[in-house]
Amino acid sequence: TEVAADEIFRPNFHFTPQENWMNDPNGMFYLNGTYHLFFQYYPEGNVWGPMHWGHATSKDMVTWEELPIALEPDEFGYIFSGSAVVDVDNTSGFGDGTTPPVVAIFTYHDPKGEAEGRIDYQSQAIAYSLDEGKTWTKYEANPVIANPDIKDFRDPKVIWDEQNQQWLMALATVDRNLFYGSPNLKDWELLSEFGEATGAHDGVWECPDFFPMKVENSEEIKWVLIQSLNPGGFNGGSGTQYFVGDFNGKEFKVDPSMENLPEKHDHWIDYGKDNYAGVTWSNIPDSDGRKLFMGWMSNWLYAQEVPTETWRSSMTVARELTLKKVGDTYRIFSMPVEELDTYKEALFQVDQLMVKTSAEIAPEVEKDLTRAEIKFEIPNLKQTNYEFSLSNLEGEILKFGYKHSKKQFYINREESGIIDFNDEFAGTISYGPRTSKSDTLSVLMILDRTSIELFYDKGETLMTEIFFPEKPYTSFSVKGEGDFELKNIEINQFNF
Ligand code: FRU
Repeated sequence: TEVAADEIFRPNFHFTPQENWMNDPNGMFYLNGTYHLFFQYYPEGNVWGPMHWGHATSKDMVTWEELPIALEPDEFGYIFSGSAVVDVDNTSGFGDGTTPPVVAIFTYHDPKGEAEGRIDYQSQAIAYSLDEGKTWTKYEANPVIANPDIKDFRDPKVIWDEQNQQWLMALATVDRNLFYGSPNLKDWELLSEFGEATGAHDGVWECPDFFPMKVENSEEIKWVLIQSLNPGGFNGGSGTQYFVGDFNGKEFKVDPSMENLPEKHDHWIDYGKDNYAGVTWSNIPDSDGRKLFMGWMSNWLYAQEVPTETWRSSMTVARELTLKKVGDTYRIFSMPVEELDTYKEALFQVDQLMVKTSAEIAPEVEKDLTRAEIKFEIPNLKQTNYEFSLSNLEGEILKFGYKHSKKQFYINREESGIIDFNDEFAGTISYGPRTSKSDTLSVLMILDRTSIELFYDKGETLMTEIFFPEKPYTSFSVKGEGDFELKNIEINQFNF
């Protein structure tokens, strides 16, 4: 099928705004069968500008419908990132007795204050909706948390803390997180702070998320703090690290394995360059119980210069997070949500394939690699390097793989397509040593027109990156130094 010239980079199924600029996902909540996604949006241009909250909804977190803008800037400033909760018991009093209010908690960023050189130009505010997020009323007594003279004081993420019967907010500021508690979403009390002494700090902490999670195969409950920072991400620019520990209703005590983590530690949600500011959905029913996550699939290093014109940026696929004890530490695993499976058509399936040094996988099947899932396993890892590649007849090629000699994953965008819009875009990124001890490498990739999301070792290590080939990739190949085996190969196409 022919695609209009300015649409050749638009994803087939990852969420993008119809027009103009988008960054962080905001205010994600679930209600009455619908997943809501709000996002940092500038409706008048294809670069960052005065921030609004755009809005989209989905029945399954896979196909999205864009709705009118939800929140617009006003005399107090731009509407920066934040969250939304369903106030089931109407603790806020915003309800009208017919439907529980949905309450959005966001940052006001006052550009006038910033221009005057003040440091107190970010504060926290709320708005409520009585029609499931379609229209919003800003609270007349905003802000609910005034700025205490701290520059970079933003991105409130609120949950209902069942254990301690309070609304609980994580708020990012420069090099740490502040935790606040509230009975009604209006009156907030500072509980504690965390983070100065551990993790990556080569940038500003932003967009936190803080919640309890059951450790898989145990009854243990741990608290997880997801913490984006920019710059200073693992592979440069924007990145998202996490910490696991205990919370007593006031203070977060990080697990000993994650105290004093150095800059270059190995607790990141994703090691690719393009998964930022991701947070989880609120109000997922207990009967479901999943932790559902979505991130912005770009990086502040080059997001405003990528070669799309009428729109800019997309989100990752929705992912399910799980928490596992691995050795003497805890790790977050991520996998694509199972809802994606309902769109799958199997194109190719083979239990075993002996590769003679290199092979194009399934060249005989008609496959559309712009909306596909590819899965396989490599048992008995022993060669020094396993390289995978996506390419087209124009010679554009994205190389990625696993250097077993160094236990290192990598992606090389050097020849992937258009790269000259920013010096930070091309080149090779890597991560290692691999934490899984298995001698089988399992690989799952979700491919769209301009993105790859790699889930290695059943979600233990992720790499998400975008690319801009002039023509879609049509071929997928694997290469080693000698013969090796591939198992359980599957190529699936998504039909929407
Ligand atoms: C993260 C971020 C947030 C802020 C928003 C502004 O990408 O910088 O900290 O609220 O973007 O658009």
